[in-house]
Amino acid sequence: MKYFLLSLFIVMSLTLFSCDEGVDSPRGFSLPKGSIEAGKIVFLKYKCLACHTLKGIEDTSIAKQQTIFIALGGKKTKIVTYAELVTSIINPSHKFSNLELPEFRTPQGESKMKVFNDEMTVTELIDLVSFLQANYSLKPYQQTRYQYYPH
Ligand code: HEC
Repeated sequence: MKYFLLSLFIVMSLTLFSCDEGVDSPRGFSLPKGSIEAGKIVFLKYKCLACHTLKGIEDTSIAKQQTIFIALGGKKTKIVTYAELVTSIINPSHKFSNLELPEFRTPQGESKMKVFNDEMTVTELIDLVSFLQANYSLKPYQQTRYQYYPH
């Protein structure tokens, strides 16, 4: 019994503390409040529309990349977090949605998304992420409706 309790305790601690606590976990991440309006300007400045579409945002002066069209924003079943958005901009090869389509990746598996890390300021990144996040909304989970069949 003593050993059973001990092993139960070990298993519980492992399941409780093993995940999400590595040095690359999002624990402790907090984004300062950004400006949505300024973020829209950043979005246009860095020509994100070359490869992306975003409902309500157009700029015909931006040359479109012919093969990449990825819609940003819209309804998602899970909330899109600031951490996910920051990651997808500064580390595009790490991914948060199911966009691992081969046409978006180099043969080495790297993302074809341009890396802006040496151009964009941190303030621009914060504003951009606030702007992008505001363009996502939560799609309510659709419950399966079961028909009631009387016996
Ligand atoms: C050269 C093309 C290109 C440009 C320019 C580009 N992206 Fe991307 N972006 C991509 C590709 C390709 C992906 C898919 C990521 C992957 O490789 O899995 C992506 C993915 C993303 C995602 C994740 C979307 C999802 O649902 O997973 C976000 C957010 C994003 N980009 C934001 C931006 C922003 C903001 C800019 C401008 C600062 C930008 N991108 C500029 C090509 C581009």
